[in-house]
Amino acid sequence: MLQRYETIPSTLPPQPRVAAILSCQNNIMALSWHMPISREPFRYAIAVREENHTHSLLVEYGSFTLNFLPFSFYDEIDKAGRTHGDEIDKFSVSTLTCDVVDPNGNRIIDQADYVYECSIIDTYQNGDHTIFAADVRAIHINENMNAHLALFLGHGEYATASAHSRVRQSSHVSTSKRSF
Ligand SMILES: Cc1cc2nc3c(=O)[nH]c(=O)nc-3n(C[C@H](O)[C@H](O)[C@H](O)COP(=O)(O)O)c2cc1C
Repeated sequence: MLQRYETIPSTLPPQPRVAAILSCQNNIMALSWHMPISREPFRYAIAVREENHTHSLLVEYGSFTLNFLPFSFYDEIDKAGRTHGDEIDKFSVSTLTCDVVDPNGNRIIDQADYVYECSIIDTYQNGDHTIFAADVRAIHINENMNAHLALFLGHGEYATASAHSRVRQSSHVSTSKRSF
């Protein structure tokens, strides 16, 4: 039986979301509200609360990187999501390292499995988060990719996916439209 709620209950069962680290200039923050919105050109959207220091950096610099780290870095992700860049240099107190920055000065984190280099093309003020839509200018893929991404369950809990299967492609699936 399904229970109906008018708003998100505080006891909401986990809704796993992939946790990433967003870098804008030298600052980093944890981000789990994100999604692809176009394949060609490849575009990505993120939702950021206005009170976050990252929000003002995104408005000022118009670009960011999204760093997808392995599950083993959940503690670093969590720390980047509980402190503010206008109060502390989060990157320097983390165990993360960065050899290069992207052309806009945003960090490409060495430990990431993959990194999207993004330029903001549109902004949508919405509820208590602003949606930033961005062109993904480049994708960096780690040759030592771990592939066990960190899933954020809420309330300081993290997990990683444990099952994998492949659906057999059916012969009657339309080929005229691009599939996922
Ligand atoms: C795993 C995790 C995911 C988060 N996802 C988001 C998100 O998608 N959008 C957002 O605005 N804040 C999110 N937060 C909260 C911010 O990361 C947090 O407010 C952070 O301190 C902001 O840092 P800043 O002030 O340096 O920008 C998340 C926090 C955690 C721990």
